[in-house]
Amino acid sequence: MKLVKPTSEYKASYIEALKEGFYVGVQSDKTPSEIERINQNFEQYLEEMDNSTGKIICEDGKEYDIVPQSTYWLIDNNIFIGSISLRKKLNQFLVNFGGNIGYGVRPSMQKKGYASKMLGLLLQDLKSSKLKEVLLTCSPKNIGSNKVIQNNGGEFLGAKDLEWREEPTNHYKIKLK
Ligand SMILES: CC(C)(COP(=O)(O)OP(=O)(O)OC[C@H]1O[C@@H](n2cnc3c(N)ncnc32)[C@H](O)[C@@H]1OP(=O)(O)O)[C@@H](O)C(=O)NCCC(=O)NCCS
Repeated sequence: MKLVKPTSEYKASYIEALKEGFYVGVQSDKTPSEIERINQNFEQYLEEMDNSTGKIICEDGKEYDIVPQSTYWLIDNNIFIGSISLRKKLNQFLVNFGGNIGYGVRPSMQKKGYASKMLGLLLQDLKSSKLKEVLLTCSPKNIGSNKVIQNNGGEFLGAKDLEWREEPTNHYKIKLK
């Protein structure tokens, strides 16, 4: 099992994962026509994955600079299993909602321990970085994600109410040093 930078080597299983309904964080799954576009333009899709720049309007209605991120894929038995994205710097939106790390595991591979292992592998790599701790957030209803964070030493900081969300957002810190 390993984390790799996204590469067309795993295109076939990545496209299969999208067809199963794979998504990361609070994104939603892709429509058949979106998947077909990704399939047709895979290299460009990979290039653009972490290279958005400029500003975005977030769900709180405010404008933020896009924060750089690095995405890694979890590969097991030569198959794409899931994806995890790291944002070393946070804007105020991500401090409230999103945090440093977002992830997802393809539906057919869920509840097999993969997300917990994927987060563990990334945290291991981060031990040699300058980051002292990471912030992770998730919905109180997302039992799987809460457990993934707890399985990796997540310290619960509280459930934060955000004006633009009906439900609170659970905040966790994981110490790296
Ligand atoms: C959340 C998600 C990443 C979990 O992935 P996973 O590979 O199934 O997680 P794991 O197998 O490591 O499971 C961790 C724990 O949560 C439990 N769990 C996982 N999914 C669960 C679910 N839907 N309901 C209840 N428990 C669940 C597992 O049984 C395991 O329990 P344990 O630690 O007591 O053994 C996956 O469901 C997913 O990709 N969801 C969509 C995207 C998403 O929500 N991302 C996180 C946003 S904050």
